[in-house]
Amino acid sequence: MAEELTDSDVLVPSWREAFSAVPRHRFIPDTVWVEDGDHLVPVHRKDDETRWVDLCYANDSVVAQVDDGVPAGPGQAGHEITSSASRPDVVARMLAALMAEPGMSVLEVGTGTGWNAALLAERLGSAQVTSVEVDPAVADRARRTLREAGYEVTVATGDGALGYPPHAPFDRVIATVAVDRVPYAWVEQTRPGGRVLVPWTTDFHNGALVSFVVARDGTMQGRIVGNVAFMRLRSQRGKRASLDRHVHDAAAARRSSTDLHPYDAFGEYDASLAIGLRVPHCKLIVTGHGGGAYTAWLIDPWSGSWAGLDYRPDADRYVVRQSGERDLWQEVHDAYQWWDGLGRPTADRWGLTVAPDDQYVWLDAPDNPIDRPGT
Ligand SMILES: C[S@@+](CC[C@H](N)C(=O)[O-])C[C@H]1O[C@@H](n2cnc3c(N)ncnc32)[C@H](O)[C@@H]1O
Repeated sequence: MAEELTDSDVLVPSWREAFSAVPRHRFIPDTVWVEDGDHLVPVHRKDDETRWVDLCYANDSVVAQVDDGVPAGPGQAGHEITSSASRPDVVARMLAALMAEPGMSVLEVGTGTGWNAALLAERLGSAQVTSVEVDPAVADRARRTLREAGYEVTVATGDGALGYPPHAPFDRVIATVAVDRVPYAWVEQTRPGGRVLVPWTTDFHNGALVSFVVARDGTMQGRIVGNVAFMRLRSQRGKRASLDRHVHDAAAARRSSTDLHPYDAFGEYDASLAIGLRVPHCKLIVTGHGGGAYTAWLIDPWSGSWAGLDYRPDADRYVVRQSGERDLWQEVHDAYQWWDGLGRPTADRWGLTVAPDDQYVWLDAPDNPIDRPGT
């Protein structure tokens, strides 16, 4: 795995030794979950060791826990992924972006399996690494696994949004969970000049990696430096959108049509990132109908508004249905035009400022904040 990541230029030289030294499989639980069609199903090491090992060393995330450790029974909504070992190339890119050097102290938020904490400990030393995990069972397992692998890092059980004051200030904070509001504790607990690396998300778009530098005035500024998708911080999970629960009265929906190709709005990274900035509380679900046809559903689980756009490969206009107090497709369409009008800024032109009582998104420079309706 380390060789493959090196060959594809993902693993920078300073992290190569750590990746080779830390055996990922030691951190992966004996039962993991894999996708099977629309479902997640368990794979047990005792039943299929070869498959389990392959999963441990594939360049993919490994689902270590679903439904907060109490898997939903038959007939209930599909499983939700609640803990995983992140994809190796994502971990490698994030560690490179963290710019941590031996001697620096690091706070990791979201211990999960403990694999990333082990990589940090291997390079920086166990005493330099503190990791916080909200789920007690996940934290206990990671603590034990890390110790057995020879890494005496501090694994604290608790809400990582609060940081870990007993070990602050840190030189680096790395979140391995996504947030839409960056907890101010991460600024407070980082030394001026230190870095905070955060997977940042909106309801519409998941997500972007933001690399912040903490200033002396108690604020931090950051720019988008990559494209990552993480599960959310537990307290910021929001509501799940579901077709069964939220899409009804289709016959009574307001009908219109559009010539905006859904891929331009949803599939294109820079566009969907910008739409997420402007259209709050809007989740996207796509259902395929075969032959390349699909419906893109926009759902606001808070107000119950929904929209469906029916894509047919042979059409150049697409039927849109909208229901509820919001015209969600219209909002997405307007946000797309707003982004287009700005000259289609790429992700790297957006940045965030986090201050004690406020945080905002800007384009190109902090003195150019953008208006984000409803957030
Ligand atoms: C993608 S996994 C982290 C992967 C991990 N770094 C690894 O190497 O395996 C995200 C983890 O964040 C945890 N988490 C979610 N909300 C949290 C919070 N508020 N504080 C601390 N951990 C949290 C989840 O329970 C989950 O284990």
